[in-house]
Amino acid sequence: MAGEGCPIVEFRHISKMFSGVYALEDVSFSVKRGTVHCLLGENGAGKSTLIKILTGVLKEDSGSVFFDGEELKDRDIWITRRKGIGTVFQENSLVPHLSVSENVFLTREIRKRSGVLDFEKMKSETLRWSKELGVTLDPSAKVKDLSVAEQQIVEIVKMFSQNPKFVILDEPTSSLSDKEIENLFSIINTMKEKGVTFIYISHRMEEIKEIGDDASILRDGKYITYIEDVKTMDMNEIISYVVGRPLVQIYPERHAKIGDVCFAVEGLADNTFVKDVSFNVRRGEVLGFSGLVGSGRTETAKAIFGVSKKKNGKIFKDGKEIKIKNPTDAINHGLGFLTENRKEEGLFLNKSVSWNTVAASLDKIKTNGILSKGKERSEVNKYVEKLKIKLPSIDRAVKYLSGGNQQKVVFAKWLMRGSCIYIFDEPTRGIDVGAKTEVYKIINSLAEEGNAVIVISSELPEILGVSDRIAVFREGRLVKFLDAKDATQEKIMFYAMGGKDNETA
Ligand SMILES: Nc1ncnc2c1ncn2[C@@H]1O[C@H](COP(=O)(O)OP(=O)(O)OP(=O)(O)O)[C@@H](O)[C@H]1O
Ligand SMILES: [Mg+2]
Repeated sequence: MAGEGCPIVEFRHISKMFSGVYALEDVSFSVKRGTVHCLLGENGAGKSTLIKILTGVLKEDSGSVFFDGEELKDRDIWITRRKGIGTVFQENSLVPHLSVSENVFLTREIRKRSGVLDFEKMKSETLRWSKELGVTLDPSAKVKDLSVAEQQIVEIVKMFSQNPKFVILDEPTSSLSDKEIENLFSIINTMKEKGVTFIYISHRMEEIKEIGDDASILRDGKYITYIEDVKTMDMNEIISYVVGRPLVQIYPERHAKIGDVCFAVEGLADNTFVKDVSFNVRRGEVLGFSGLVGSGRTETAKAIFGVSKKKNGKIFKDGKEIKIKNPTDAINHGLGFLTENRKEEGLFLNKSVSWNTVAASLDKIKTNGILSKGKERSEVNKYVEKLKIKLPSIDRAVKYLSGGNQQKVVFAKWLMRGSCIYIFDEPTRGIDVGAKTEVYKIINSLAEEGNAVIVISSELPEILGVSDRIAVFREGRLVKFLDAKDATQEKIMFYAMGGKDNETA
């Protein structure tokens, strides 16, 4: 058995190419025992590829991997799992029509001594872990009926229930609420005390600072640097390693002129949760929707857009009432909605980037009624450039893009469609720090062109950085408007948690 001093994982000269392009090029580094080692890098830098190589999902072209002092040749996911490597992959790997506990114990079912499956035990184990994560999961529920956040919890429960000694988390918090993230972090800390080691991947620098010990940075498939202590290193310095240049200003300056009200909602209610929501947005204005996860922001957007049924309420565009019964009506009235659940609602993974981008706006690329390939290519390339989508060709199937680059494709699709009222739900989720700024610039330029933009975000600095005005939601109601100029994180939280105007923030 390897001694305490030797690293638990060591990558030696790992290279991997996809169709002639390096996804990883001669990457060498090691992970110290009992640490949370952060793996940082822009979208497409090679983080997930490295994880897949370690776990044996992908095979390296050259180089070697050592685990616990032993070279792991010919590994696959089963072998590495038996060695004690537990992974939460970036993409959901659950079986939708199976129940939560069936998924958690898939291929390693617990049996009674008689050999029959011990369903009760599997359910109680699932419950125990989900409680630790601070969620109430029904072990018998079918995975396909769960929200994205719940599915992410199932993945985490599944991994922890395998009792791993080495844990890889590839953007585990992308759909979790603050509370769930806090619980996850406390589990990580407890397990770390017991000697478990972690590789942690996230684009949220605040998280890295909170949970990380040391870090490795990848850029364009190359190993850039090792950071011994992420907690004490200046955030801007970390970011400049990640993006390869200093990022002076994350939130770009805004110059949009705010005009007349162009969109208004009055007394909106849906059949379940949203009650009496009223607001308006002006041309050139960015209205932020803030509040805790589950406060009704996404539900409000869905009811407006006709994804869910409205029980009450009127919608006005340029002062005239409009009827939106389904998303097609919404689109015809010039609304665009970038949903938070992009995997399910946004993309056809087997189709090309180009196909996905133009799918919703075929009329735009027609010349005299005929689809023009040339126009399609030039339009798509325009957005690929604007959003800095990293890909070898727009004919590439979307499934071969890194997670963050897939999200940029959904973004491109909505931009190309060209709306006049945009609703963006968590627009920068999974998108790297450098590209976040690009997304903010796009939001600004949409506003500058005279469109109205609604941004839903759980990240308070982001809401404060992009909005002109902030609507705070709580328990399905819009409880407060704040001018971004006078708003602070504390003020938003005060109202989001139920504070009233006659109390002090
Ligand atoms: N199966 C595949 N076939 C072809 N190219 C691939 C494949 N998997 C990954 N790539 C490419 O390899 C590069 C690295 O991708 P990877 O998924 O490792 O990035 P990442 O750092 O995890 O990014 P993100 O932060 O967006 O998740 C990307 O350019 C991606 O398009
Ligand atoms: Mg990735």
